[in-house]
Amino acid sequence: MYNYSANTQYIGKQFLYLTTCHSTNDLAKSLNSRGLCKNGMVIFTENQTHGRGQQGTSWVSEPGQNLTFSIILRLSDLSLDKQFLFNKALSIHLLGFFRTYFSNPAYAFHIKWPNDVYLNGKKIAGILVENSLSGTHITASVLGIGLNVNQQVFDFPTASSLAIAFDKPIDRYELLNSLLLYLDENLPLNFETLSMAEVQTIHKVYDATLWGLHQPRWYQAAADPFIATLKGVDEQGLLILETKQGIERFEIKSVQFINHPVD
Ligand code: BTN
Repeated sequence: MYNYSANTQYIGKQFLYLTTCHSTNDLAKSLNSRGLCKNGMVIFTENQTHGRGQQGTSWVSEPGQNLTFSIILRLSDLSLDKQFLFNKALSIHLLGFFRTYFSNPAYAFHIKWPNDVYLNGKKIAGILVENSLSGTHITASVLGIGLNVNQQVFDFPTASSLAIAFDKPIDRYELLNSLLLYLDENLPLNFETLSMAEVQTIHKVYDATLWGLHQPRWYQAAADPFIATLKGVDEQGLLILETKQGIERFEIKSVQFINHPVD
């Protein structure tokens, strides 16, 4: 059983360990709406039976092999138009954690837009951020993180785990403690008071972490597949591609990467 030992300021000070849970994000939202949690509360389960992914998909994770948890954050007055900034900051710090914890140049961690974590070209983690609003402001945010740690078999060829990549089992609880500590120390909560320079740094660093940046690749939008070069992601979270027509912007899920080499 998990023994919580991260010496954090706020993330995980309140920790709910569940052997089974339908969805840690659903439970986190329910506890938050009833005022039953503190800033930074973590809800963790060994067996998530109805895990949810982005855009209405489901998140399936083998019980006892991975990390499935949610963090409830009370942001200080984040306006809706900055919600993707928060996503970018979260992605950057998750990636920062992996690159620090597994510091070996043979292992290439990237963010695949909008916020999947890729290791050597395969998805090892997904994030589902769900916000509670009051008018045009985000009052609380539930960060749901699904991290493939020791699972060996996946239904999708693009999914993988840390253990497959490193060819050895990984201590899940040590990893979780280190991740919570890293986020606690690095993730800003005061988005409205960040300086212009700090905001620009978030945009710049996020772009630099992107899987496929500046590389010609195949994409598929509404019509036929096309070759384009990824230029970055704008402030609203739109994907910026350079196509034959020039610079074009795409909304989340309106375009897909196709895993096929460009000749
Ligand atoms: C995605 O890549 O589509 C996002 C997946 C997010 C999965 C996590 S697992 C913990 C939390 N609870 C959920 O129901 N979903 C998130």
